[in-house]
Amino acid sequence: MKRIAVIPGDGIGKEVIPQAVRVIEAAGADLALTHFDWGADRYLADKVTVPPDGFATLARDFDAILVGAFGDPRVPSNIHAKEILLGMRSKMDLYATVRPVRLLDASLCPLKGIEPKDIDFVVIRENTEGVYGDFGGVFKHGTPDEVAIQEDVNTRKGVERIIRYAFEYCASNRKVDGSARRRVLMCDKSNAMTHAGGLWQRVFKEVAAEYSQIETQHMYVDALAMQMVLDPRRFDVIVTNNMFGDIISDLGAGLQGGLGMAASGNLRPQKTSMFEPVHGSAPPLAGKNIANPFGAILSAAMMLAQLGMAGEAQKIEAAVLEAVRQKKTTADIGGTLGSREAGDWVAQKVSSR
Ligand code: NAD
Ligand code: IPM
Ligand code: MN
Repeated sequence: MKRIAVIPGDGIGKEVIPQAVRVIEAAGADLALTHFDWGADRYLADKVTVPPDGFATLARDFDAILVGAFGDPRVPSNIHAKEILLGMRSKMDLYATVRPVRLLDASLCPLKGIEPKDIDFVVIRENTEGVYGDFGGVFKHGTPDEVAIQEDVNTRKGVERIIRYAFEYCASNRKVDGSARRRVLMCDKSNAMTHAGGLWQRVFKEVAAEYSQIETQHMYVDALAMQMVLDPRRFDVIVTNNMFGDIISDLGAGLQGGLGMAASGNLRPQKTSMFEPVHGSAPPLAGKNIANPFGAILSAAMMLAQLGMAGEAQKIEAAVLEAVRQKKTTADIGGTLGSREAGDWVAQKVSSR
């Protein structure tokens, strides 16, 4: 039995996570779920973002964490999201974010003439460093001479482990059609940000030399953004820093039908890892039963696969694919169902397989 911490969070997180939970239960996975109320409501009630020992408890008592999203207009500072979400990623050292960009059905892609076989790549995002450390400061606050500095922190260890993770991922994962992954592309902005970019460039070359069977490539992030739209077929494994990974994974979500479809894992190999949809709390959609639950459901499937339940994960992915084909979906991807009804449909399909 695997122990799962479930943290729905805020906004549509509270609607999509219950659907993901129903679906993993329908898949017959042997799980013990424990719910946590971390999020804006809790913070507004008692000013607690993460209870004392919260992260230690997650790491000690759970095999994986399933998360919704954090962000609530009643907390303009976003302090709870920073402390919970970014806290989990950095304090639990979940250093590798894996965000698959996979087109399930041609009807979901906004590009012309693109088939599912054309879009099957993965963004591997460094998840603990870069500009997310929030180092820096503001001087002469609120004056015409104000200066704001946001530091970009890149450690050799941090850069090396994420690049190595990408090569290992490439060597040990296949595409959906069964073919081998072959290429790791490193994306940076080393033409302008020379110190950090230089480190990434050097480490990428060094690590690549250990994987002679894997092709390597480099692109600046601006050019990569254009190519993701013009020719997404060319991508396989992309490794990049925290902020570029954030931005290009939303672009990747756009290629697969929008944020409602995109899944992710925040991984620390061999340790308690966290799985969440790529989207946020979408306050305008919250409480209306209209948010697409498939990103959350596919994230839960990733979690099961990571926990060694590949069969259950495949059942779920197949059911989501079938729902998309039959338009048993929410309106963002062309269906007429509510979040609960789309979750129902997938759960039924999963339990009948
Ligand atoms: P968002 O992802 O919440 O929404 C962006 C757009 O995508 C909106 O148009 C929304 O309607 C659409 N969308 C997102 N998820 C959808 C779904 N499941 N079904 C249908 N449509 C969906 O991003 P935002 O609006 O930039 O941010 C809102 C809040 O969420 C902010 O507080 C932000 O900081 C937070 N956020 C949190 C996370 C997280 O917890 N992992 C991720 C991103 C944003
Ligand atoms: C994501 C989100 C977060 C990020 C925000 C909410 C801090 O956009 O998970 O992609 O930038 O990592
Ligand atoms: Mn993001």
